[in-house]
Amino acid sequence: MQHQRVLVLDFGGQYNQLIARRVRDLGVYCDLKSCDMTVEAIRAYDPIGIIFTGGPNSVYDPAAPQIDGEILALGIPVLGICYGCQLIAHTLGGRVERAAQSEYGKREFSFVKASPLSEGIPAASVCWMSHTDHVTEVPQGFAVLASTESCPVTVYGSAERRIYGVQFHPEVVHSEYGNKLLENFLYQVCGAKGDWTMKNFVAEQVAALKEKLGGKRVLCAMSGGVDSAVAAALVHRAAGDNLTCVFVDHGLLRKGESEEVMTVFKEGLGMNLVRADAGERFLTKLEGVSEPEQKRKIIGAEFIKVFEAEAKKIGAVDFLVQGTIYPDVIESGKDKSAVIKSHHNVGGLPSVVDFKEIVEPLRDLFKDEVRRVGTELGLPESVVQRQPFPGPGLAIRIMGEVTREKLATLREADFIFREEIAKAGLNREIWQYFAVITNSKTVGVQGDFRTYENVIALRAVTSVDAMTADWARIPFDVLERISTRITNEVPHANRIVYDITSKPPATIEWE
Ligand code: XMP
Repeated sequence: MQHQRVLVLDFGGQYNQLIARRVRDLGVYCDLKSCDMTVEAIRAYDPIGIIFTGGPNSVYDPAAPQIDGEILALGIPVLGICYGCQLIAHTLGGRVERAAQSEYGKREFSFVKASPLSEGIPAASVCWMSHTDHVTEVPQGFAVLASTESCPVTVYGSAERRIYGVQFHPEVVHSEYGNKLLENFLYQVCGAKGDWTMKNFVAEQVAALKEKLGGKRVLCAMSGGVDSAVAAALVHRAAGDNLTCVFVDHGLLRKGESEEVMTVFKEGLGMNLVRADAGERFLTKLEGVSEPEQKRKIIGAEFIKVFEAEAKKIGAVDFLVQGTIYPDVIESGKDKSAVIKSHHNVGGLPSVVDFKEIVEPLRDLFKDEVRRVGTELGLPESVVQRQPFPGPGLAIRIMGEVTREKLATLREADFIFREEIAKAGLNREIWQYFAVITNSKTVGVQGDFRTYENVIALRAVTSVDAMTADWARIPFDVLERISTRITNEVPHANRIVYDITSKPPATIEWE
């Protein structure tokens, strides 16, 4: 079945993925595509509406992305946001000017004329601005719909042409009724039916996968992470026993994690799941190695070798499942930036498996949609809401050489930290929280005796995409409980410190 689709044309704004996520959350499928998409391609895509995102340029920059005016003559509803709003005005003969002052942050705006966009939104409310240029004259046939004190054309549009522009960012939470405005555009202007739900997605994907995989052999590498877990569970619904999952346990997972994977997937879902118990092998390879990049490289290479050995035992398969998700698809179209850390993930596996085709059942989904699909498939909260966890595991949370003793100490400390954060009800608002075992020992006193033990650092950050992050303001009483418990219950830890560095300049992980 073909869903109704909205096209989000990307003009380089920082919130572009967020716009697409909001549209999906409102029950309408959308794709984020480059702003240079041709009119023919747009027509072929057949969207029920088009959204132009914001972008860093001024419409007058010689290098600024422009649009073919024909897009606005297709009869398809259009909503321009920030740069997109200015671009529509500029293209249709309105006027865009540099404002006397850039506007950033919250502003109150008022509707001056009712329109389908303003339905259910109070006459005055708060919006989030971030711009220098603004529209000063709307194109012929268009009306000013809302203003702020300093931005006379905050919203404008033409009900007849079904084209609208908003200067503020409706997609960010600081815009009080921003989501309602987007909903109005989709449902009142574009005639959306709301046919994008995860329940539908699962039903359709399972049917499509059954047809595609029908009776053939399928292999999937499971890491314990959300994406590979959901991909495996989805494919399992369609392929049943024809699917074999290989779980490479490198011995660097958190406490209880490896057992949980086996319980949920092998016992719970009855999957054909092979665990390669390779902890010793990884630890031996890591002996004497303390340089972070070297650790990462060793683990990445070893992971592939272990997987290859398992895949050989299974023999040739028809399909290899990959847990690629939509942001990976979007990002892969962009230039690579400087390598800060060499990431380990399962991308290198295809080269060592004898297979005919790759299946990526999640490649159209954002992370929050993947989680909802997981819930739809009956996976437990602990799997579905799992925080991001680096491929090299605890090895990069142990500063210096990875030893069995340090690993045992870290596992226990990390477990207590996670348990207390969950008890305090903070687990959903903090992006990532984990313990690190530093390469320092300090003097302490426990039970009248001098101790000389490890310093454990606690790291907890808030973030939306891990590109930037801020340290989480965990209440002192929660930190106090964690510190008391770790120093009391965990051997070889006598001092706890809390990391108060944002990213940048630090990174989320310590190595
Ligand atoms: P950093 O430390 O670079 O981490 O701020 C950003 C995000 O990426 C995660 N991370 C990894 N994820 N393989 C992964 O799949 C890796 O090798 C890896 N290293 C870091 C990190 O946990 C954070 O969410």
